[in-house]
Amino acid sequence: MSSLSESKSSDVNSKKRAISIENLGLVYRTTLDKRPTFKTRIRRLARRKRQTRIVHAVNNLSLEINYGTVLGVIGTNGAGKSSLMRVISGILPPTSGRVEVFGKVSTLLALGVGFNGKLTGRDNLYLGGLAAGMSRAQIESKFDSIVEFAGLEEVIDAPMRTYSSGMYSRLAFSVAISLDPDILIIDEALSAGDARYKVKSLEKVLEMRNQDRVIIIVSHAMKTLKTVCDEVLWLDHGKIVAQGDPTTVIKAYREFLHVGDAPESDEDL
Ligand SMILES: Nc1ncnc2c1ncn2[C@@H]1O[C@H](COP(=O)(O)OP(=O)(O)OP(=O)(O)O)[C@@H](O)[C@H]1O
Ligand SMILES: [Mg+2]
Repeated sequence: MSSLSESKSSDVNSKKRAISIENLGLVYRTTLDKRPTFKTRIRRLARRKRQTRIVHAVNNLSLEINYGTVLGVIGTNGAGKSSLMRVISGILPPTSGRVEVFGKVSTLLALGVGFNGKLTGRDNLYLGGLAAGMSRAQIESKFDSIVEFAGLEEVIDAPMRTYSSGMYSRLAFSVAISLDPDILIIDEALSAGDARYKVKSLEKVLEMRNQDRVIIIVSHAMKTLKTVCDEVLWLDHGKIVAQGDPTTVIKAYREFLHVGDAPESDEDL
């Protein structure tokens, strides 16, 4: 499959590098919450060891992404997509290897990250903006357009725990694009939106694509990826299986999944 990435590499040198990843590894260590039996407890005490689960979420991965790219990222659940995005956006430090990012990143992770449910949409928007480095005045000047794009005028002063999943992701998307990032990472954040909002946000993504920006979209919606991406990256067990032309990579991935041409697997499920 490496030929897929090689075919793209001819024009690489003429473009500006945005992200450079070399031999990246990310390992999660979690202590297992399994209630030990008397026997295993004694055994463990004897060894002075706690039971841990070690996951190599990203495994010796190297990747270069240039400005002007809309990159789709695919792979089965647990393949390491979100983990890779967390490292690129600086949320998690790499366990090994190197990540260099040349630009301002704005990350939209899947639902549940970033906003405080007890606070209103308005307060979250301010906090989110400040955390991302905007001044109060900048947020104020953009406030109305952010809320309007999200279509949340009526609920912006309600606590966010009362929002539906779609409303939540609308606000997240709207805030992220208002930051005018060099690198925009969308990790399944659009999947909760209704059809109309999805179309609207994808149009926005296409409008934002230019030579000075990188847009990374992690999604299981193959049809959408085929429409908007220049390139698709397929991850499995924290490694790159294939990278290159969306149609070719997605076809290979579908064959791997044994879903063939089943239309369900192509839609935005
Ligand atoms: N915070 C964490 N602590 C421990 N293990 C984790 C953590 N987050 C993810 N993992 C593990 O890392 C691996 C990769 O997870 P990741 O969330 O990156 O997958 P993904 O490709 O984004 O999957 P999905 O399509 O379901 O979103 C999985 O085995 C998962 O169990
Ligand atoms: Mg994920």
